[in-house]
Amino acid sequence: MTFPIVGTPANKPPQRLFIPGPTDVHPDVLAAQTAPLIGHRSDEFEALYAKCEEQLQRLFFTDSRVYILAATGSAMQEAAIRNCVGGRVISFVNGAFSQRWYDVAVGCGKEAVRVDVPWCTAVKAEQVAEALSAALVDGPVDAITVVHNETSTGVTSPVAEIAGAVRSLNPETLVLVDAVSSFSGTRIPVDEWGLDLCLTSSQKALALPPGLSFAAVSDRAFARAQTVTGRGWYFDFLLLERYLKRSTTPATPAISLMRALSLQLDRIFAEGTEARFARHHRLAETTRRWAEARGLSLMAEEGYASPTVTTIANSFGWGVEALNAFLAQREMELSDGYGEYKGKALRIAHMGECWDADLARLLAAVEEFAGWPTRRA
Ligand SMILES: Cc1ncc(COP(=O)(O)O)c(C=O)c1O
Repeated sequence: MTFPIVGTPANKPPQRLFIPGPTDVHPDVLAAQTAPLIGHRSDEFEALYAKCEEQLQRLFFTDSRVYILAATGSAMQEAAIRNCVGGRVISFVNGAFSQRWYDVAVGCGKEAVRVDVPWCTAVKAEQVAEALSAALVDGPVDAITVVHNETSTGVTSPVAEIAGAVRSLNPETLVLVDAVSSFSGTRIPVDEWGLDLCLTSSQKALALPPGLSFAAVSDRAFARAQTVTGRGWYFDFLLLERYLKRSTTPATPAISLMRALSLQLDRIFAEGTEARFARHHRLAETTRRWAEARGLSLMAEEGYASPTVTTIANSFGWGVEALNAFLAQREMELSDGYGEYKGKALRIAHMGECWDADLARLLAAVEEFAGWPTRRA
């Protein structure tokens, strides 16, 4: 099997982390964080913030606001719950991170209805419609939560169809989407799909250091926040909105991370968003073809495999620790299965700064570990 080699950018070091976050950060982006600090109530910072905001809106394909928090994606899940849910929320759980969202809702004291969907399968619009119709019999449902790309299993759920189903059943129910491990690796047109809130973290396909999270928030979701109590302070959308209008944040922003964000957004638009999405889909396809050619089974439900992380059944019983020790000598690392799939799966992330030549190098090393004749690109 040969691998496509498509123009790796100049001065890009080889990818080391094939784990689904954190991912490698380009050295120029890392270096951007070392610029001297500036006051956050300055014109210079506000210009930096406004520029990032405009680029993030373009990347989320939204005309609405994008909030930027100095906190990880789990915190943005909490912000979403605190602001958008006064009464009941239905959480669809098909993996570890959709379960996290349910746990966050419970932790915030909300009445959370959990709907389990088998791991390694996608949440479908029909399942959502069925659960929502049943729940509506007992009273209003403020929101549903769903994970677009379940990082624990490498499954993508059809959130556009899900949002359509929710909207046609009950326009009052908000659609809250976690796109932590898919955002910027695939097209997520938030407004066109009718997502009320779509959140992500910095350390996945965006290829930034951990520590920032972002959420596109619709006017409907913002209007809900105006009616909900117990929004807290740090996560309060009303407060964030007031400061966003002045291109800043209520608390001290993560200025160094924002500098890295600004440069990385420029790099993303220089590559071109469609080219970037196509690269991620191509890498996922290459990984799946490689696995199948080697007699390994893919674990994601057919038709719903993730563009950013591929989960493969570890049918050869490789010790992932031993495999990673072998890969470490070549400065690479991949992931074991998650939760009940620990020891039974491999997760190969191909996102962010990962290019075709990087993936070819990883797969060749895995072949070498397996003792297969190596078929290099
Ligand atoms: C789909 C998904 N949601 C949420 C999270 C939590 O994000 P964070 O670690 O940025 O809090 C993760 C982390 O891996 C994730 O993959």
